[in-house]
Amino acid sequence: MDLAGKNVLLTGASGGIGHALAEAFAKQGAKLVLSGRRATELEALAERVSGRVVVADLAKRKDVTRLLAESGEIDVFVANAALPGSGALEEYSTAQLDRALEVNFRVPIVMAHELAPQMVARGSGALVFISSLSGLAATARSSIYNATKFGLRGFALALHEELIGTGVGVSAVLPGFISDAGMFADTGLQVPPGFGTRKPEDVAAATLKAIADNTGEVLVAPPLDRLGAKLGGMAPNLAGRLQRLGLVGDITEKMAAAQKSKR
Ligand SMILES: NC(=O)c1ccc[n+]([C@@H]2O[C@H](COP(=O)([O-])OP(=O)(O)OC[C@H]3O[C@@H](n4cnc5c(N)ncnc54)[C@H](OP(=O)(O)O)[C@@H]3O)[C@@H](O)[C@H]2O)c1
Repeated sequence: MDLAGKNVLLTGASGGIGHALAEAFAKQGAKLVLSGRRATELEALAERVSGRVVVADLAKRKDVTRLLAESGEIDVFVANAALPGSGALEEYSTAQLDRALEVNFRVPIVMAHELAPQMVARGSGALVFISSLSGLAATARSSIYNATKFGLRGFALALHEELIGTGVGVSAVLPGFISDAGMFADTGLQVPPGFGTRKPEDVAAATLKAIADNTGEVLVAPPLDRLGAKLGGMAPNLAGRLQRLGLVGDITEKMAAAQKSKR
């Protein structure tokens, strides 16, 4: 798909990866609708990429309806917004649980349900779901995030198959640890020994390529991290044993502590 002049709706535009996605789409000449809760960040970004801002709290259903109504005709939808969803299940209130499930999982599906038929009717469009390597392999103190990212990946892969031949592409993008900006970089933590990072710009480039090729799933991480996640997905019992032997160190506890305010 040639993105020049195409209308792109990007959620989570105010975040680290959202900024890189917005810049990458703008470079291709796309017209952006930028969404998030933080108006100031969004307005500053909109000025740089000539985008239009729609402030919306995706945990509020009326905001989701308004976002869809105010976005107009959309050619490319990128479901990028998410909460970190880190920490032990027992630490979560039901309200916090609901918020993470809503923003990370239900809203991308509801928005795709609204947008996909219009794209199919036009015979052209793309839906992108930013999942995670946490959509492939599970870790302790990440049950909520794992649930949403496994779920989003499954949804995207099924819809990808469902819409083959309609002119509408569907892709799941699975980043590993991302440096420089975004929810991992914001913690200030180092990745565990043996793990590596990619940059927000790598996620953006992979997203544009996934749209161009209509790739069902793309992983954005160094080769060893990709292999580890794939093996973790194929052999979860072994992966669990390796984690108990210290494969990922104490990163999940530290991330949960650093991201507690974002529940
Ligand atoms: N960074 C990583 O290492 C990494 C790795 C794998 C996958 N990912 C995925 O990449 C995507 C982007 O993450 P990021 O790293 O850029 O994180 P981030 O900087 O924390 O950005 C998260 C974005 O989600 C938005 N958001 C959160 N709650 C919202 C709500 N209730 N309503 C509307 N928007 C909401 C935030 O907007 P406001 O704060 O303005 O509301 C922000 O724009 C996420 O899906 C994440 O799971 C990230």
